Amino acid sequence: MRSPRAFSVAPMLERTDRHFRYLFRQISERALLYTEMVVDRAILRGDRERLLAHREEEHPLALQIAAREPEEAARAARLALPYGFDEINLNVGCPSEKSQALGIGAVLFREPERVAAIVRAIHEETGVLPTVKHRIGLDGDEGYAPLARFVERVAESGARVFVVHARKALLSLSTRKNREIPPLRHDLVHRLKADFPELTIVTNGGIQTLDEVLFHLEKVDGVMVGRAAFEDPWRFAELDARVFGQSRRPDRCQVARAMLAYLEEELNRGTPGRAVLKPLIPLFRGTRGARAWRRTLTEGPPTPKTLLAALARVECP
Ligand SMILES: Cc1cc2nc3c(=O)[nH]c(=O)nc-3n(C[C@H](O)[C@H](O)[C@H](O)COP(=O)(O)O)c2cc1C
Repeated sequence: MRSPRAFSVAPMLERTDRHFRYLFRQISERALLYTEMVVDRAILRGDRERLLAHREEEHPLALQIAAREPEEAARAARLALPYGFDEINLNVGCPSEKSQALGIGAVLFREPERVAAIVRAIHEETGVLPTVKHRIGLDGDEGYAPLARFVERVAESGARVFVVHARKALLSLSTRKNREIPPLRHDLVHRLKADFPELTIVTNGGIQTLDEVLFHLEKVDGVMVGRAAFEDPWRFAELDARVFGQSRRPDRCQVARAMLAYLEEELNRGTPGRAVLKPLIPLFRGTRGARAWRRTLTEGPPTPKTLLAALARVECP
């Protein structure tokens, strides 16, 4: 049986909040889900409940943190322990100006020893061996060597799982352009797995379909999908069947009804309904009634009544 790591949904700020994760969990019981990136200092000083609390149903669930100082990272990881995440992942991929200024994210690609120190510190403090999400290089880097060097050095810390966004980070570009302009080089990630067979290697970037997922799974241990899973979650409806060999197939209308019950519960807890409805907007993409569904959800008040009205506009038994 494949491990949940065979398919994961990428950490995405302002996308993979707990409501999106709850929705995606209705579609796949097996996929590994990630939180949005949380800076370690926010865990140390901020509202931990808001940043880390989630439902049991969201598991398997990984917490992604961004950090620079090993000691702070370790303390933040310890504070996150009671929340019961299945994995702690370290962000070495974010190229935003803010991350650059803080010395976190993609710039750490130039400091593999520091990354290794963060991994070791978290492991010693919590007993949890973090995973690392990074890119294939930074700015002037060319080809395979910088990637292999980074992974080799970080692996000296004991880290065993590397999630590779198969593009370089160009620090002069905006975060958005950094997900589009540097060319995708999944071939380098495949080679990494061939050269380091003892490591678990996950590839990420531009993967759109389950056919592509299955292609990459011939070469690496796992595939991480970001935007496609958020923009058109139902495209992955066959995920549990095709990737994990399970017989259960989700039903789109049942998923929507499960989200109705979830919305009612969340409203009772004081959650803004708009946040719950947001990830639902593309659920019926490509079907008759999709536009009416989307319009009803975005224009109506964020209430169960609106969700019921949207359901009446799509084809449900
Ligand atoms: C809106 C958005 C927010 C993102 N936030 C994060 C983040 O918090 N942490 C991270 O490691 N990567 C983040 N990423 C990058 C994704 O995890 C992923 O590496 C990237 O989108 C490439 O995968 P894709 O082509 O399947 O979307 C974000 C991407 C998007 C589109």
